[in-house]
Amino acid sequence: MASPSRAAGRRVVFFPFPYQGHFNPLLRLAGALHARGVMVTVFHTDLRAPDPADYPSDYRFVSVPVHTYVPPELVASEDIARLVMELNISCAAPFKKRLAAMLAEEVVEAGGVRCVITDVIWYSAQAAARELGLPALGFMTSSAASFRSFMVYPALIEKGYLPVQEENKDDPVDVLPPFRVKYLERIETSSLADFATLLGHRVDGARRSTGLIINTVEAIEAVDLDKIREDMCVPVFAVGPLNKFTPLVKSSLYQLQQDHRCLDWLDTQAPGSVVYVSFGSLATMDPHEFVELAWSLAGSKRPFIWVVRPSLIRGFESGDLPDGFWDEVGDRGRIVDWAPQDEVLAHPAVGAFLTHNGWNSTMEAVSEGVPMISRPFLGDQYGNAMFVCHVWRVGVEVEVENQLERGKIQGAIEKLMGNKEGKEIRERITNLKETAEKSIKESGPSHTALLNLADLIFSL
Ligand code: UDX
Repeated sequence: MASPSRAAGRRVVFFPFPYQGHFNPLLRLAGALHARGVMVTVFHTDLRAPDPADYPSDYRFVSVPVHTYVPPELVASEDIARLVMELNISCAAPFKKRLAAMLAEEVVEAGGVRCVITDVIWYSAQAAARELGLPALGFMTSSAASFRSFMVYPALIEKGYLPVQEENKDDPVDVLPPFRVKYLERIETSSLADFATLLGHRVDGARRSTGLIINTVEAIEAVDLDKIREDMCVPVFAVGPLNKFTPLVKSSLYQLQQDHRCLDWLDTQAPGSVVYVSFGSLATMDPHEFVELAWSLAGSKRPFIWVVRPSLIRGFESGDLPDGFWDEVGDRGRIVDWAPQDEVLAHPAVGAFLTHNGWNSTMEAVSEGVPMISRPFLGDQYGNAMFVCHVWRVGVEVEVENQLERGKIQGAIEKLMGNKEGKEIRERITNLKETAEKSIKESGPSHTALLNLADLIFSL
C-alpha cells in the first residue's frame, strides 16, 4: 500500500550499471519518462560518475560508494562475471543506505518516491529496494532474444550446447531457435558456471520485479517477447529504440569527450561513402588484429572514421598505428577517441558500420538505416550479430578463423558497399528503419508501451 507522501510523488530512482552500454539506455529511458512527467533521481556508483551538466537541471544525482569494497585488481580484470557479482555484493548495503536516507528526506519534503528502476544486472539493488518497501522495475539493456537465452541458460548447459566446441559450433539449438551454438551468449574470460549464476540472478530478479522494460521494438522481436511474456508473470514493456526518444547522452563515462570535428569532415564526403568503425566501450582486441584492421581500412580505398578509444588494444593504453599507415590513407580517414555516435550514424555520408554489435550500437544503426559489418567479441554480441546478418539480413559477418585477417574485413566492406548483395542489404535495413520509426510515433507500439509504463509507475 502506498503511503500518502509516496502517492503524491512523481519521483523515480534510476540506478544504471557503470558501463557505457548499460548507462546510455537507462539514462535514455529516464529522459523519455522525464518528458512524461517523472522526476528523475540517478543513483550512480563512484567508480564512474556522469557529468550532471549533461542532463536537465532538475535531475538529482546521488553517488553510491563502492570502490572501497571492490578489489582494484578485479575492477581491472576481464573476468566480467565475477566483477559484476562482486559489484552486486558490495553495492547492496551502500545503495540501501542512500535510498533509505532519500526516502526519509522525501517524506519530509512530501515529494514521494514511486519506485526504483535498475538494470536487471543490479539484482542486489532490486532486492534492497524491495526490502525498503519500494517497488522495483527491471531494465534490460540488451535484446529480448538475449533475455530469453538467459531464461534457458541452464538447459543450454545441460544439453551440452555450452561450452561451445569446434564439433558443435554450427548445430541448431533446439531450445532457442533460431540460434546456432556459436552465437550463444558467453564470456570467454569468465567461467561458464559463474556466468550461468549471474544470468540466473538476472532472471530471478526480473521475475520478482514489478515489471520488465526492454530496449527493443515489438515488431522486430515479437517472437521472443511473446515467449518472455508466456513465462514471466510481470508486465513486459518493449520501449525501443530509446535513442530515438531522448536527446543524446553527451559525455562518456570514461571521461572522453566526443570529437565533433569528425562531423565537419563527414560534411565533405559523398553520400553513403564512409565506413564508421567502432567497437563500443568494452571490447578489446589484440595488437595483431589492430594492425590487420588498420591495413584493411587503408586498403579498402574508402573513407572511414575509426574510434580507437584508450585501452581498445589489450594490454596497451593507446595503439600505435603501423608505419606508413597515414601515407597510404592521407585525408581519407579520421581516428577519434570517442565519437558522437548517434550523429555519425545519422549523417548521410555514412554508408556502413563496422561494429561489435553491442545492442545499443545495433539499435542505433537500425534506427538510422545503416547496414552493418559484424565483428562480435563477447556476451550478447554474438547473438546480435546473428540476427543482423542471418535473420534480418541487414549486415555482413566478418569471418574470423583463428585470427582476424585484413582480407576478410576488406572482403566484407566490398560485399556491403560494392556489389548487388550490398544493394539488397541496404533495401532491407531501410525497411527495418521504417519499422523502428513507426514504433515510436504516436500510437506506435513503443510509444504506447512507454505511456503504459508511465501509467503503471504513477499507479504504484
Ligand atoms: C555492452 C554490450 O555489448 C551491450 O550489448 C549491452 O547491452 C551493454 O553492454 P558496449 O559493448 O559498450 O555495451 O556496446 P553498445 O551496447 O553498443 O554501447 C555503446 C554505447 O556507447 C552506444 O550507445 C554508442 O552510441 C556509444 N558510443 C560508442 C559513443 O557514443 N561513442 C563512441 O565512440 C562509441
